[in-house]
Amino acid sequence: MIIAIDGPAAAGKGTLSRRIAETYGFHHLDTGLTYRATAKALLDAGLPLDDEAIAERIALSLDLAGLDRDILSANGIGEAASKIAVMPAVRRALVEAQRRFSRRAPGTVLDGRDIGTVVCPDSPVKLYVTASPEVRARRRYDEIIGKGQPADFAQIFADVKKRDERDMGRADSPLKPAEDAHLLDTSEMSIEAAFLAAKSLIDAAL
Ligand code: C5P
Repeated sequence: MIIAIDGPAAAGKGTLSRRIAETYGFHHLDTGLTYRATAKALLDAGLPLDDEAIAERIALSLDLAGLDRDILSANGIGEAASKIAVMPAVRRALVEAQRRFSRRAPGTVLDGRDIGTVVCPDSPVKLYVTASPEVRARRRYDEIIGKGQPADFAQIFADVKKRDERDMGRADSPLKPAEDAHLLDTSEMSIEAAFLAAKSLIDAAL
């Protein structure tokens, strides 16, 4: 059983995916972390973000067990990740690792941008989780303020829109709902309500 969850940055898919994985005892992979870890390895080594052969080599050597959400969640890393995510050789390497993960028993939840369309197109439950750019920027802003850190709403809003453009506009595996995905717009929906909607779809597919 593979549950595919896609959507733009800060739509709530991470929280939703973790909750679903916990509820069903499934393994969870936040595939954004694989792009982030590849970008961070390049940045740490002082290597360029636009050399496809170098980025591919790093992507091929990625260890999924070593992905650390706290370290990889810095905003600059998300931005760098979206730059290397346009390169087909990087995507091929990471998609291969993601597909291997998706076959773990008893089931898996994968979240990202292209799970339902490219990584696991045969998944029986596909969710496309979205929310307006304003709502997503507001959530990100509240999250940063909640940690006691400074945040600039206008800057965050601009970043959200820039990332959407890059993710939706790229030629290889652009962000879009799979034809058979269920749309969950969380702009005016609590994560709890989104979870209950997802749960009834999964229960019907089990
Ligand atoms: O979801 P997250 O913000 O961690 O993802 C970082 C970036 O990685 C995204 O903006 C996107 O460019 C890329 N990504 C992707 N395909 C995925 C997951 C993430 O292209 N399945």
